Parts: sequence; C-alpha cells; structure tokens
Amino acid sequence: MKKKLALLLVAGMTMASLAGCGGNDVAPADAAPAEEAPAAEEEAPAEDAAEAEEEAPVEEAADDTAAPAADGELVRVGFAQVGHESDWRAANTQNYQDTFSEANGYELSFVDADNDNAVQLEAVRTFIQQEMDYICIAPIETAGWDTVLQEAQDAGIPVLIVDRSVDADASLYETQIGCDMVAEGEMAGNWLAEYLNGEAANILVIEGSVGASATLGRTEGFNNIAGQHSEWTILDSQSGDFTQAGGQEVMESFIKSYSDFNVVVCQNDNEAYGAMDAMDAAGITYGVDGDVIIISFDATHDGLQYTLDGKINCNVECNPLQAEFAAEVIQKLQAGEAIDAQTVVVDQAFVAPGIESQYATTMTQEVLDGRAY
Ligand code: AHR
Repeated sequence: MKKKLALLLVAGMTMASLAGCGGNDVAPADAAPAEEAPAAEEEAPAEDAAEAEEEAPVEEAADDTAAPAADGELVRVGFAQVGHESDWRAANTQNYQDTFSEANGYELSFVDADNDNAVQLEAVRTFIQQEMDYICIAPIETAGWDTVLQEAQDAGIPVLIVDRSVDADASLYETQIGCDMVAEGEMAGNWLAEYLNGEAANILVIEGSVGASATLGRTEGFNNIAGQHSEWTILDSQSGDFTQAGGQEVMESFIKSYSDFNVVVCQNDNEAYGAMDAMDAAGITYGVDGDVIIISFDATHDGLQYTLDGKINCNVECNPLQAEFAAEVIQKLQAGEAIDAQTVVVDQAFVAPGIESQYATTMTQEVLDGRAY
C-alpha cells in the first residue's frame, strides 16, 4: 500500500501545515484509560477474529483505534522503543502492542533498544529499508536525530516522535505525542513549596537517563520553582538512569556524602524504590511519618501503592497509555486529514493520605484500584 500512502501523505502534510501547531490536550489517564476501550482481539477469541476478518471488512472487526489501509492490507508500523528500564516503559510497550494489533489493522515491528542510542538509530534505519508505512520513535535522547529523520523523509516514510521529544527540525517528522515533562517538574516543585510553606529544604535529585527529554524537562521544571525559593538548596543531582538499581546506587552514594538532606526527588518510580531500599538499609526514615520527603514521577500502580501507604509523599503522573493517540494520527494520515503538530497527554499529581493540596489529588484505595498500569 506504499504508493497509495504517498498520495495520501502529500494531502495530509499540506493540510497539517495549514492547520498549524495547536496543542491537543488529552484527559488524564484515570478519566479515560485505553484499557476501558478493549481492542477487538480482546473481545473475541483468535479464531472468531480470523473468521470475522474473512466475512467482513477489517473496519467492522476492529475498534476505533483501527486504521486499515484502503486496500485492506495491514498498515506496517515500526516502533523503536527506548528499552525496558522501568514499569512505566513496560506499560507503554504493552499499550502499543495492544493498540497496533492485527485485529486493529496493523502489523507492528517492535524493537527494544535497551537504552542504546546506536541500537535505536539502527532500528530506524532498518525500518526505512523495510519500507514501513509509518515509524514511531520514542527517542532515548533528544540529540542526534537530524540525519536519520532526513533519511526517513527522503524515503517518504512519516515519523511520529512519541513519549519523549527530539531537538531536530520539526519539519522532519509529522507530530510529537507525549507528556509535558517541564510541567511535571513544575508540578512537583509547586507541591513541595506548598507543603513546606516556607521551611528550608536540602534537596537531593536522582535524575533519569542523561540527555532524555523526560530528564531534561523534569529537571528544568523543578528548577524553575526551586529558583523562586532561596530557602531551598539543591545539594546534588545525579543520574539513576530511570532504573531501580540506578536509584539505589545513587542514593547509597548520596547517603555517604550528605547527612543533612530532607527531600529526595526521584525522576521515576523505579528510582524511588531503589532510593527507599538504600534509606531502609541506612536506617533513614522517609514519607509522611519520616525525616525525608520523597517526590516521585510516573504514578504507576506500585508507585501509587507507596503513595497510599505514605512512603512517597507526592507522585507526579506521566501517563504511559499514549498509543491510541499515535493510532489516531495514523488514521488521520491514512484518510488524508490534517493532524496536530503536537499532542500533549495531560498529567496530574497524587499525594499521600493526610496531605491536602491544590496541586494534587489525595490518594485513596479507590484511586489505586482504578489505576490500570
Ligand atoms: O519518558 C518517560 C520516562 O521514561 C518515564 O518517567 C520513565 O519511567 C521511563 O523510563
């Protein structure tokens, strides 16, 4: 379906450029999780789905994230994923695999780059050679994308930048879909300012992977607020690579170097689990009844369990259920319709029971039960 696609794309790109760059806010995860709209393959056993495909056009068998090619062939999508470093990433991968299913009219080629830039670039080049209809990239780092994006454009393959962002020229890709990482960092900072109400803070930061937009954005956003508080000191800031082992290692080294900290900011839940292990081992108390305030990001199910338990004081969401927005963009391009240059997936923050905040929702068992990832 490659040639037909090229024609549709010309129309789609023209209309997209006319449509401008207006952001498209999307409801928070709890308002409409993708799992609430099950894919066709979840509704019927495999044999039934196959029969349905024979008897009726794919459109009738698939859900509203389906985008069959005009000629009935599967739409071929290559997805160059960051890796499998965190619970968030596992949920994001699952969400793509569920959404870009054959029942929905797609053939998904998935590559886990294991946080290796060279592997991810190679994956994209392989997708270009394989003449994918679309390429989705969740970029490990923001930098270094111009050449390969130009190669994809020269080959006529539209690219969707998903989850994180790149610093390449925006004309080299169709759209960017993801959370506003700067806003997430600011949410964390605003919550801390409200919670401390003028008290001093000695802060340690366990950052995510070096060069990732999730790291850069959360750091920038938190620092924006920290800059407004002369009573706050950021003692140190080191990368834990978005992993539990990394979080533990960095926290162990912080504990050796600093004795006077009262806030630890972990840029994802897995790092927070590692940091809590390190503090447990050192006899340092944390959470609502402890000496150290913990802020985390992602708000995955386990992260919110720790928040409900009062171990994490504040957990800022990053919604991993983003594949439906990528599917929507592809559907529109297939139909020759205009697309938005950016889709911002909206987040919210959660705080432990006993904390009231204008910036966050107080955790309850009901909120936890509604968390699908
Ligand atoms: O880019 C999203 C970030 O990457 C998530 O916060 C983190 O858990 C993941 O690994």
